[in-house]
Amino acid sequence: MDSFSIVPTGKPLSGEVEISGAKNAVLATMTAAMLADGVTTITNVPYLRDTKTMSNVLRVIGCRIDGGPHEFKVDTHGANHLEAPYELVSTMRASFYVLGPLVSRFGRCRVSLPGGCAWGPRPVDLHLKGLEALGANIEVTHGYVEATSNGRLPGGNFRFPISSVGATVNVLMAATLAKGTSVLENAAIEPEIDSLVDLLLSMGVKIEGRGTRSLVVHGVEEMHPGFSETIPDRIEAGSFLCGAVISRGKVKTTKCDPIHIKSLLDIFEEMGCIVHTGKDWAEVDASSRDLKPVHVEAVPYPGFPTDLQAPLMAVLATVPGESKIRDTVYIDRFKHVAELNRLGANISLEGNTATIKGVEKLQGAPVMASDLRAAAALVIAGLVADGETRVSRIYHLDRGYENFEAKMAKLGGMVVRLSDQS
Ligand code: UD1
Repeated sequence: MDSFSIVPTGKPLSGEVEISGAKNAVLATMTAAMLADGVTTITNVPYLRDTKTMSNVLRVIGCRIDGGPHEFKVDTHGANHLEAPYELVSTMRASFYVLGPLVSRFGRCRVSLPGGCAWGPRPVDLHLKGLEALGANIEVTHGYVEATSNGRLPGGNFRFPISSVGATVNVLMAATLAKGTSVLENAAIEPEIDSLVDLLLSMGVKIEGRGTRSLVVHGVEEMHPGFSETIPDRIEAGSFLCGAVISRGKVKTTKCDPIHIKSLLDIFEEMGCIVHTGKDWAEVDASSRDLKPVHVEAVPYPGFPTDLQAPLMAVLATVPGESKIRDTVYIDRFKHVAELNRLGANISLEGNTATIKGVEKLQGAPVMASDLRAAAALVIAGLVADGETRVSRIYHLDRGYENFEAKMAKLGGMVVRLSDQS
């Protein structure tokens, strides 16, 4: 298992870093390709463990994935094995996205339940209820979901009781091939949903309400293959900007959408950083600044994202005074707290609220990544900790950050991968 060795250089991060395509967008668009027979092209694909896993899921179903590492041509012509096995779905929850497209195009499929994740149970009840509302029959047996439909799904109306990105993705995809019109209320409005809607529109379905919580999908009998240019990864951009602020540096993220990270940029401004943005870049300058503590809530988009909660917590651990972060999306997502405290942070947890008392100096130590964003937080903390920080279980980070060490090196951060052959 690989680990990272992070040795502080004593210098703040500075320079420019190019942002890759969004993991969470491409996982949805890859599965949407299965709604049509033929080759859908997806560009700006990030080269990640998760995109490889999704390729494997689609291959098991019978699809071919051609093209280079950053351009996928998803050929769905041979898709006929309508099953996603436990071995794959349990390693990546987004594999569950195949459920919606498969049941709506083929009228049946069998997909493993994803199970829990590193920080909690993470149910899929809303995916299933939404599909049922469109007319699918759902049975859960032996850890698998069996979804069937007698002919085309009738379509229907569904109101998501809470905002869920994944359930919106699944139900929206299923609605495209339904007989009738479907209305999805309180749908998620994350940029990754807009990106999916854009691909679906290119495949020939009519959807009203893009960018709003109310999506009206006029189902069609057949979709044709489409095209998607993957949007920039807002979480990757935010993570590098957290690196800039923790090191009191100045970093410009390019090929990103500053609107997608406005909530984070607003927090940085409140803390006292200087923020500049252009059409496709954002720059944060935290050099020679006395930073102020903040109170933050992780909420659905356009609010501050739960995926940046851990990286921001690392930053706040170095800011004098008392900060607070409350996560309302994933109330148990705090495994990184104990690890950050191993690095000398002073963070206490009560329910879903972390109180962070800024310390003068973090100290390097061996720590363990519990999930993707926790891994990023620990590396970011290691950039400014005294002495070496060893972060183990880096496979979590490899799921969602392309070329991480090289990008860090470009900014002056020293993050070295240690491969453990044992
Ligand atoms: C997606 C993102 C993940 C991000 C999360 C929240 C992908 C591949 N992953 O995950 O990086 O952290 O959005 O922005 O895009 N819920 C239920 N029942 C369900 C589904 C969700 O109760 O059937 C709850 C969850 O437990 C959570 C909340 O809804 O409390 C939001 O979760 P959701 O938006 O669905 O997260 P994911 O789509 O799994």
